Amino acid sequence: MSQPRVAFFDTKPYDEECFDRVAAGRLDVNYFRFALKADLAGVVKDTFAVCAFVHDRLDRACLQSLHDQGVRMVALRCAGFNAIDLEASRDLGITVTRVPAYSPSAVAEHAVAMLLTLVRSTHRAYNRIRDHNFSLAGLVGVDLAGKTVGVIGCGKIGQKAAQIFRGFEMRVLGHDPNANTKWAAAHGIELTDIETIWRESDIISLHLPLFPETEYLVRAETIARMKRGVIVINTSRGKLVKTDDLIAGIRTGQIGGVCLDVYEEEDEYFYRDHSGLILDDATLALLLTFPNVLVTSHQAFLTREALLQIATTTVENILAAAEGRALLPGTALVEAGP
Ligand code: NAI
Repeated sequence: MSQPRVAFFDTKPYDEECFDRVAAGRLDVNYFRFALKADLAGVVKDTFAVCAFVHDRLDRACLQSLHDQGVRMVALRCAGFNAIDLEASRDLGITVTRVPAYSPSAVAEHAVAMLLTLVRSTHRAYNRIRDHNFSLAGLVGVDLAGKTVGVIGCGKIGQKAAQIFRGFEMRVLGHDPNANTKWAAAHGIELTDIETIWRESDIISLHLPLFPETEYLVRAETIARMKRGVIVINTSRGKLVKTDDLIAGIRTGQIGGVCLDVYEEEDEYFYRDHSGLILDDATLALLLTFPNVLVTSHQAFLTREALLQIATTTVENILAAAEGRALLPGTALVEAGP
């Protein structure tokens, strides 16, 4: 039997390396390093499935064009699905899958890594010592042991983060409308209301999804209720935080430190090499000037284990759809049938 042909869009070398390993001898893969949009859909020929990522734009026109060329499946290699018009997929009979969970530890560990870097100035020490500057001036940090951390969103990632924080002998407050009380009791996590999180936390880590009701959860009004000098960590979604208000808080000292793996206007910059170019985003440029702000480029998911999980789920689903078998549980967004 011939192997199903799959067109991958917006790939990076690390994606290709991982998919090559998992798909070898099973799928006929074709990598395109640019993001997919309607007027580029014509590059796909005799292809069963398209594998897309967060910056591909699978609107109705794009899906129609893919369908006209015989594409019967879109396999998203991410959890979020705002990049695809699901109604159009349903109308066209295109099966859509995603990878709902890959490695919660990857994201939780990155959040903690950012916090440790920030509070011990490891990034600054590294640069200093490479320049043979062995002075410790300005590098005084704080202990995490004994501090209170508020974890907002105690789902898969929040739980991992909370457990790691407990390992540092921190007091961990958790807030989640669907909190798992058994888990909290087993790990010594104090479940509480949002006001207690704002009032008592030395560090606040966001692990909740972006919904209309959670947009700008961290804004002037909530920042004012936080402890002076609080550290805010966001590895979830940029729009959970109103960046201008965050900057205002940093300037007054109300916010003592910030770790951001996501940023509300990240689509323009993150995942791309802009070195040598003008940074035409005054807010991001300003954020990068603060010594107590650490920014990474939405890389919290980027571990070998997570990439392997993403590739395995995606490849298994494409093979299942091509062979008329059941998709992996919890991965189907649109099941178009044979
Ligand atoms: P999850 O669905 O397992 O957990 C999310 C939790 O947030 C749920 O328990 C839910 O009840 C809770 N929640 C919803 N609304 C809330 C509110 N208003 N206040 C407090 N809690 C609330 O999701 P998971 O896998 O833990 O992911 C969390 C977030 O991490 C995702 O939504 C995504 O935005 C982000 N993420 C970031 C990645 C990165 O590379 N930076 C990679 C993967 C996910």
